[in-house]
Amino acid sequence: MKAHSYEKAFLGAAIVVLLACMGALGFATFVHGIHLPGIAGRIDPAMVRTTPPFDQPGVQRIGDNAYRAVLIASAWSFNPPEIRVPAGAEITFTVTSTDLLHGFNIEGTRLNMMLVPGQISENRYTFREPGEYTIICHEYCGLGHHTMFGRIIVTEPDVEPPASGD
Ligand code: CUA
Repeated sequence: MKAHSYEKAFLGAAIVVLLACMGALGFATFVHGIHLPGIAGRIDPAMVRTTPPFDQPGVQRIGDNAYRAVLIASAWSFNPPEIRVPAGAEITFTVTSTDLLHGFNIEGTRLNMMLVPGQISENRYTFREPGEYTIICHEYCGLGHHTMFGRIIVTEPDVEPPASGD
């Protein structure tokens, strides 16, 4: 069977695209060093609730105007379901899943993570305005997916430092 010239052209284009994609992948991997999270970001999904920092989910102060929010996702809720953080502070979200693939998107912000069992997802965000924000699970995770959300109460700047005893 004889290939038509346009078939050859498409075949050629496909090979060029394939080589370009492999080149881009190689460039990202070896020049920019982009790769999957290392062992430091891994966790045994069966041991989440007893592995720090997930043994104490919630908000902790970690520095001057800096907080860490530790949350656990499992079908079909976030623990804790509601957190309070001050506006203007840098919040480090440290989140993982105990069971399925979940999503972690704070509505109206750029904060958007995938929660993979066995991986710790981390990202930082600073809320400029006090108010109420909704955390949405935006990865389909089964029957209760549409009911899976959490709440972030962003308070006035610095009204909520945890009691520090000094
Ligand atoms: Cu969890 Cu969708």
